[in-house]
Amino acid sequence: MSRTRVPLVAGNWKMNLNHLEAMYFIQQFTWLMRNAHYDYEHSAEIAICPPFTSIRSVQVLLQAEKAPIRIGAQNVSPISGGAFTGDISADMLKQLDCRYVIIGHSERRKYHPEDDANLINKVRAVLVAGIQPILCVGESIAERSQGIELEYAIDQVSKVTRDLSDEEVSQMIIAYEPLWAIGGNGSASPQIAQNAAAAIRQYLLSIYGNYVAQKVRILYGGSVNSANVVSLMQGPDVDGFLIGGASLKPDEFSKIARLVTIASAQRDE
Ligand code: 13P
Repeated sequence: MSRTRVPLVAGNWKMNLNHLEAMYFIQQFTWLMRNAHYDYEHSAEIAICPPFTSIRSVQVLLQAEKAPIRIGAQNVSPISGGAFTGDISADMLKQLDCRYVIIGHSERRKYHPEDDANLINKVRAVLVAGIQPILCVGESIAERSQGIELEYAIDQVSKVTRDLSDEEVSQMIIAYEPLWAIGGNGSASPQIAQNAAAAIRQYLLSIYGNYVAQKVRILYGGSVNSANVVSLMQGPDVDGFLIGGASLKPDEFSKIARLVTIASAQRDE
């Protein structure tokens, strides 16, 4: 893989799969990847973001399987510890080998109070712990119908990144997930995904310079599956995917990782 940005295929399990089901998934998935001779070192990076209750089981099994599949969490507390019932700190996630934390997913923005200050503090907490945040942005159908979708997504990025240093921003991953495409109702077109990724990269370039713009991986999310992932990967600014429903099926998720590896190698030829 010659590119500076290694493609990332991340599964967001959302509130699915208890720890027993998660263990069954990992056993099946690692077997499928072994059987396909998946070369982890030279292929798309794979991450799985289970619910908190399954992270430890996934960690132990991946260690036992010696499978370099990354673990991510779906949320984090902005606070480092103390009397915060029900919260999980970035340090706790680091202890569980979490390499990524999804921050600001549209489902969390909708059902929980995730204001910009909260998101900035979460990003900071995660970075301090040595974990990379995956910041989710993307418009609803309302903004798209007004033709302001790119401004909207960039505004969401800027509201979180504007108080961060260049070095901090360079550690981030951004996932463009238009709300209308989430949930298996039909993905964005490859052109829409590329346009959004290019606009976000252009924004990073204008504010943080070339190093940051070239380093940050920009993912697309929303109804990605093995039938549409190759065409979605054509866009040169699309560095991988954040996948919901299709990441719950070991065979489908394994197929997607293999297709992304092939498509990105062909794109970069
Ligand atoms: P789906 O792939 O199920 O549309 O979910 C996308 C998503 O929200 C990933 O974070």
